[in-house]
Parts: sequence; C-alpha cells; structure tokens
Amino acid sequence: MYGLVNRALEEMMRKTHGDATWEKIKERAGVDIEVFVRMDAYPDDITYKLVGAASELLNQPAEALLKAFGEYWTLYTGSEGYGALLDAAGSSLQETLANLDDLHVRVGLMYAELKPPSFRCSEVTADRLVLHYYSTRDGLAPMVVGLIEGLGKRFGQTLEIERLARRESGDDHDSFSIRILP
Ligand code: HEM
Repeated sequence: MYGLVNRALEEMMRKTHGDATWEKIKERAGVDIEVFVRMDAYPDDITYKLVGAASELLNQPAEALLKAFGEYWTLYTGSEGYGALLDAAGSSLQETLANLDDLHVRVGLMYAELKPPSFRCSEVTADRLVLHYYSTRDGLAPMVVGLIEGLGKRFGQTLEIERLARRESGDDHDSFSIRILP
C-alpha cells in the first residue's frame, strides 16, 4: 500500500505508544525502512507485517489495532491535506458512504498505482443502511468498522455497526449493518 498508509500507522503508533515502541515494532516486523515516502507504493506485506508485529508486541488483537487505525485514518487524511476530498464526498454519513468509490477515483488521480476498495450501499433508510465492501486484500474488514465509526464522529453521530457477511466465512464480500442511534 502507499506510503501514506504506513505513515499514518507509524504516526498512530508513535503517538499512542511512543517512539521506542515503534522502532521495536519495525524491528520485530523485519521492516528496515527509515522513512515511508507518502507517494511510493510499498508491498502490502509490509503493512500486514507491521500490524502483526504490533499485535504481538502490544498483546492486542490485530483486529482491534486495525479498527483503531481505521478511525485514525479519517482524522489523519483530514490533517494531511485530504480534508477537502472528504468534504466533497458528502455532507452526511449516508452520502459519504455512497460516494466512497468516487472519492478513491479522485485519490487514484494522484496515486496512479492505487488498488482501491469498492463500496455499495443497500437497504438505505433515514437511520440505517447496509454497506457492502469489496477488496482485493484480505483481513481489512475490522479497519472498515473503524473507518465507519470515524466518519460517524465526523458527522457527530453515534453508530451501531454489526458485521453481516464475512469473507473469512466464505461469503463473496464483507457487509456491515450501520444504524444511526438517536
Ligand atoms: C480523503 C480521504 C481518503 C484518502 C486520501 C484515501 C486514500 C487511500 C489510499 C491511498 C489507500 C491505499 C490503497 C493502495 O495503496 O493501493 C486506501 C485504502 C483504503 N481505503 Fe481509503 N482513502 C480515504 C478515505 C477512505 C474512507 C472514508 C474509507 C471508508 C470506508 C476508506 C476505505 C479504504 C479501505 C478499506 C482501504 C484498504 C484497501 C482495501 O480494502 O483493499 N478510505 N485509501
């Protein structure tokens, strides 16, 4: 994945657990990269190894770290100059979720080797919808839960998110029921 993603992970880990822990995570992951370049594409393996090493070192499930990372991403992209892209994607949670593919098409104009995920909404009502998530990558559904929660906070909403279909259980994609609580 692009360096932007690894940089965000690095920033989150440094802020929550300190610089020394981040160095240990990299060492344990066998990742010998001093600085991640935002616009360079790195093998996905590097990101997975970093999450795996952090999970072992911090004694936290990888799913929990990915979820925290998803939420962090919604703040990080805003602070790294992509806030306007998020703003343009929508002025409500529903609108933003419906426009995630367009958002990543725009990102792809800057990051030519982007392998973006794809999303589709169904069963949309005023306070509930189902989000369908398609990816060429495995194991990132927990990150999507964090991303949705981060977007909810962006719009000042409390959400109840439930995982429905799961690729790890043989479904052809992942899906999530999202309820906006009153
Ligand atoms: C302006 C905000 C955003 C930017 C700049 C952005 C950019 C990116 C980039 C650079 C990647 C790495 C893909 C690659 O290197 O091939 C990525 C992946 C991803 N993005 Fe976004 N993104 C944004 C917002 C969002 C939001 C709001 C969601 C909400 C669901 C989202 C969902 C994902 C997921 C799940 C992935 C992991 C890749 C996969 O599933 O295959 N992104 N995005």
